[in-house]
Amino acid sequence: MKSAWERFEPNGWREYSLIDSGNGRKLERWGEVVTIRPEITAIWSPGLSDKEWHQLANAEFVQDGSRSGKWTRFKKCPDHWQISYPSSKGKLTFNLRFTQFKHIGVFPEQAANWEFIIDQVQRFPNPRVLNLFAYTGGASLAARAAGAEVTHVDSIRAVIDWTRENMESSRLTDIRWVVEDALRFVQREAKRGNTYHGVIMDPPSWGISPGKGKKKWKLEDQLVELIESTAEIVEKEYFLILNTYSGLANSTLETLIKTSFPPSNTACGDLILHSGSMRKLATGSCLRSWK
Ligand SMILES: C[S@@+](CC[C@H](N)C(=O)[O-])C[C@H]1O[C@@H](n2cnc3c(N)ncnc32)[C@H](O)[C@@H]1O
Repeated sequence: MKSAWERFEPNGWREYSLIDSGNGRKLERWGEVVTIRPEITAIWSPGLSDKEWHQLANAEFVQDGSRSGKWTRFKKCPDHWQISYPSSKGKLTFNLRFTQFKHIGVFPEQAANWEFIIDQVQRFPNPRVLNLFAYTGGASLAARAAGAEVTHVDSIRAVIDWTRENMESSRLTDIRWVVEDALRFVQREAKRGNTYHGVIMDPPSWGISPGKGKKKWKLEDQLVELIESTAEIVEKEYFLILNTYSGLANSTLETLIKTSFPPSNTACGDLILHSGSMRKLATGSCLRSWK
């Protein structure tokens, strides 16, 4: 069994780039639109001047609380536009828009996982893939484009509607949508005896659960239970991706998987976006496990 430490970076995505980062912000290009967004880990000095950032940017998100804030537009730009990722199984198209939580509709660093998903899916004759905390579905689109039967779980219905748009724009069909708490769904699948060849999960620090009076997702209280329940619903040969943006160290993720899953290959590391050769922005941690 192999165990490796890596940096996971998207490759060859011409429609997205991190132009610069520093002073707690990042300057990014999404097709025709350039944005400035807060980035707590960009503690260094940027490569370009503030004037250059504002000459390039169409809009900036300024935080007014811990998560919320608002967009200020400097130049005319669309409210809604598209970019595509050129995967080896065709274009994955994302519908982008400015949201109230600084997001645009895609986590670009996740593109580092999409080709891995495509390769893994192709190992199996009739692959079934489960994407938990699935947001606008980059991983779901990659798995579906590679031929998997995909179940996409997110607790917010509006996010599922947004992913359906992305599926249609990517000329894909038949993703199974589930509006549900991820942990509850996995536990129910275990009871039903349903299994998957691939599971992808991106659990936030805290989350929202549909339904009144239902227990809210809290990473520190429920991650172990989620990993242990997931181990019950994977096939003997499987792949798993666990991403987190909540500051859990790579070694912690690796230990969690190794103590719950049978021995497997693992690769663990930071999810990276870079501008130039010096400024490497570590946006989150990622663990891949496969057998
Ligand atoms: C960090 S985002 C995932 C981003 C995703 N990796 C991607 O690349 O698009 C977290 C997602 O988890 C969803 N979520 C929050 N609490 C949840 C819960 N209890 N069960 C299922 N989904 C939840 C949110 O609606 C959000 O879409």
